Amino acid sequence: MPAITATAPAKIILFGEHAVVYGRPAIAVPLRQLRARAVVSADPLAPSGSIRIQAPAIGLDTELTELPGDDPLALCVRSVLGILGISRSPACRIRITSTIPIAAGLGSGAATSVVLVRAFSSFLGQPLSDEQVNDLVFDIEKIYHGTPSGIDNMVITFEQPVFYIKNQPIQKFRIARPFSLILADTGIPSKTATTVGAVRSGWQSEPAWYEARFDQIGEIVQQARRALEAGDLDTLGPLMNTNQAVLEELGVSSAALDKLIHVARQAGAAGAKLSGGGGGGNLIALAPDEITQQHISQNLLAAGAAGVLVTQINAADSAV
Ligand code: PMV
Repeated sequence: MPAITATAPAKIILFGEHAVVYGRPAIAVPLRQLRARAVVSADPLAPSGSIRIQAPAIGLDTELTELPGDDPLALCVRSVLGILGISRSPACRIRITSTIPIAAGLGSGAATSVVLVRAFSSFLGQPLSDEQVNDLVFDIEKIYHGTPSGIDNMVITFEQPVFYIKNQPIQKFRIARPFSLILADTGIPSKTATTVGAVRSGWQSEPAWYEARFDQIGEIVQQARRALEAGDLDTLGPLMNTNQAVLEELGVSSAALDKLIHVARQAGAAGAKLSGGGGGGNLIALAPDEITQQHISQNLLAAGAAGVLVTQINAADSAV
């Protein structure tokens, strides 16, 4: 039985994080430079039914049966067995590796689940369709994250830019002109569930105030979609700044994010904002040209960014 490999990208939320959990739209794109990978290979020496899960980055090397019921990797494997109606798998080893930083707002959890579900179902001879993978990973995200919007699993499974509204299919959406984004890591890990939970507590005690901010973000996302479809990159930067201002009001930015966002703007970014759950993790900045990109990247690193990456958002692959 040949080894089966599956890979999936990280993701960047361009606009609309947090409000998307409350039914407003958001725009996200795949980040192909960073990927999760799962390799499943037969283990002829192990007894039938043995499934060994190895994830060296988190020091994991154990039998499935040793993992607790709510472990996200175990959940993926058991869910695939359940969906396919298989009670005993051929003995195998599943090795998971990833270049996506954990807890950085880049969708590492969803990407790991997608590759695991894909590779393991293929190994069992019954590869799940993208729709099935997406639905299953969404269910797993719910157990893991509480109230996810579903945008991470969607953009990562289909590896396409998405204009996403919760519980609705992806809407067709075309990026008319390619552009470059700078992605900078604060180096401070932050769990999505923490900031999502904080927003939920605030919303429960002051629903009208929060709903008004979510509406503002929803309007920014609609304007951003029109700008992207029209190739109007001049409008995007200011929209990123306005989105960031509302995210700050919601309390999901942080001192480190605020500082680096300020540095990026001072160095010439047309716009900058946090991306993903916030509280730490990554920010994105829009630079008008290559020289400004280099200048912004250098200044971000000098100001303490743990890592900087420049990525192209392409027009060519944007039709969903
Ligand atoms: O931090 P990430 O990469 O999981 O992105 C979270 C995006 C949120 O809108 C904050 C939550 C969600 O489920 O959409």
